[in-house]
Amino acid sequence: MKKNNPNRRSFIKKLAIGSAVIATAPTILTAKNKSISKLKVPQKVNLNEKVSVNDNIQIALIGAGGMGTADAKTSLKIPGVKLVAACDLYDGRIEAAKENFGKDIFTTKNYLEILDRKDIDAVIIGTPDHWHKKISVDAMNRGKHAYCEKPMVHAIEEGYDVINAQNKNNVIYEVGSQGLSSVGNEKAKELLEDGAIGELNYAEGFWARNSPGGAWQYTIPDDASKDTVDWKRFLKDYDYIPFDPLRFFRWRNYLDYGTGMAGDLFVHLFSSLHFITSSVGPQKIAAMGGLRFWEDGREVPDVLLGMFDYPETKQHPGFDLSLRCNFVDGTSGTTYLRLVGSEGSMDVMWDKVVLRTNEKNEPQDAFLQEKASERNSQISSRKKMLPPRELIYQVEEGYKGAHYYHHENFINAIRNRGKVVEDSVFGLRAAAPALACNISYRDNKFINWDPQKMKLK
Ligand SMILES: NC(=O)c1ccc[n+]([C@@H]2O[C@H](COP(=O)([O-])OP(=O)(O)OC[C@H]3O[C@@H](n4cnc5c(N)ncnc54)[C@H](O)[C@@H]3O)[C@@H](O)[C@H]2O)c1
Repeated sequence: MKKNNPNRRSFIKKLAIGSAVIATAPTILTAKNKSISKLKVPQKVNLNEKVSVNDNIQIALIGAGGMGTADAKTSLKIPGVKLVAACDLYDGRIEAAKENFGKDIFTTKNYLEILDRKDIDAVIIGTPDHWHKKISVDAMNRGKHAYCEKPMVHAIEEGYDVINAQNKNNVIYEVGSQGLSSVGNEKAKELLEDGAIGELNYAEGFWARNSPGGAWQYTIPDDASKDTVDWKRFLKDYDYIPFDPLRFFRWRNYLDYGTGMAGDLFVHLFSSLHFITSSVGPQKIAAMGGLRFWEDGREVPDVLLGMFDYPETKQHPGFDLSLRCNFVDGTSGTTYLRLVGSEGSMDVMWDKVVLRTNEKNEPQDAFLQEKASERNSQISSRKKMLPPRELIYQVEEGYKGAHYYHHENFINAIRNRGKVVEDSVFGLRAAAPALACNISYRDNKFINWDPQKMKLK
């Protein structure tokens, strides 16, 4: 069976060579047991001859709020991408889209008018979660490529429709967990496969915030009303209720539209973890939490813990995962994903990986060394109390960021008819354990999930 450390020796050898190089490089010298290595900025220009850079890929934005706007701006940095239309349900966001992307772009509150346009190749879907599946499926069925924000779906069972639509139509579909297009994630994957931390047995991830914005208490615009917002369309299939600006602008707090901390944040950690470990997901899921502070009418907890059991597969040994999210964290601002193995650990960030390994001590005593070699056997040496050896892989200057490379991955796949790093199958396998946390929390029980077949058991 291929575990994640098939070639531990080769890693040690490479490390030795790397350290030698590092020792001569100007950026490296730090305290004893600590060295810093620069991660190369990706050079991924692989455009197909069939489509020149001058052939624009025309995109439209559906959901022109915070992330959708950031997505569109990032996509426009890629040569040959042009934004021609935008859709949103609130007048203020439509006006902002015109300011951001040009007063001549086509705008509407009905996304189907975007999908019916012949001049649009691809859409970016930046709506709240409850609209992801419907717009994704409608877009693909009309032949549009789609980049959909995470989590791919609002409920696990919606995932099958998205996968079917992707399979049925000759289009590219990418989910927007940009972290897995980061050099940090790529380096971590390489290190794990090289056996840098030995055999993986545990992983943990943490998301800490301590501000109203961080806890989703977004500003409500002064002109928010049923005249400026298409409230009926926002509600989708849910029963009509009178216009509520809190539900519209702070949709993450309500289960009809959002997916809580797990769907919003755990999903990023699942995406990165699954990319790094080549995992398809956990088989057992449990979540616990509570509403400790932000009692503003929200239906979701502001402290959430999740526990996940990953079975042994061909790609990795069995391991456990613990995820935490705290919106009342006095230390604040802490986010990390850590992988722990039998010989070390890695803290994985999007622009950096910190690898820690314990120093191995060979027998110091000449007599014991002699005896060991005589018997041709290993003598387990007595360990000293040394700090762990620390290797920091830090991205070079000029890195455009994970978000850029994720969008570039999508655009290149459209041009080359190539593959994306996060298609609908990957997207569901990242979203499902996160969404299962909400079921576990609600029903107070373990959730069993078949990650291969992508079915709740
Ligand atoms: N990848 C990331 O790092 C990241 C970060 C933040 C948000 N997100 C995701 O992006 C999505 C949007 O989040 P946000 O923070 O930008 O929210 P937001 O409230 O700022 O924006 C959502 C916009 O969608 C519009 N909208 C709602 N329903 C619509 C519909 N049917 N058609 C067209 N427009 C519609 C709303 O009017 C609003 O302007 C969410 O799924 C969220 O999880 C991802």
